[in-house]
Amino acid sequence: MQLTIALLAAILFSGSVQAQAPSERGRVLLEEFCARCHALGKTGASPHIAAPPFRELGRSFDLDEFTVKLQRGLLASHPDMPEFKFNEEDARAVSAYLRSVQE
Ligand code: HEC
Repeated sequence: MQLTIALLAAILFSGSVQAQAPSERGRVLLEEFCARCHALGKTGASPHIAAPPFRELGRSFDLDEFTVKLQRGLLASHPDMPEFKFNEEDARAVSAYLRSVQE
């Protein structure tokens, strides 16, 4: 019985993730991994004073190249920033979200 519930929950959950728009999934990923330092949205300051708000990334990065970077692993010179790697699907989702908030 418990197993059935767990399976059902897993099926429902994966279904809802699939149904999300890529940019929405991107936002969820960034919220989980990046929001404690970077401002995600169209307004607001970053919680970490040195971290650029994501809406400004388009100024210094080509966002197409950024999709590739996200899969190779992001390397910032700053010691506060941990290294992240995304799979292709997640990298695309993150980039789709980033595009949607650029100034
Ligand atoms: C612990 C805080 C922290 C987290 C978490 C964090 N960052 Fe950063 N990030 C920074 C800081 C601080 C800088 C500024 C680095 C510098 O100027 O050297 C930065 C810089 C950047 C830059 C500028 C380019 C570069 O490589 O220097 C990008 C792009 C970036 N972060 C993306 C992300 C993404 C995407 C995530 C989530 C997957 C993330 N960051 C999570 C703190 C963080």
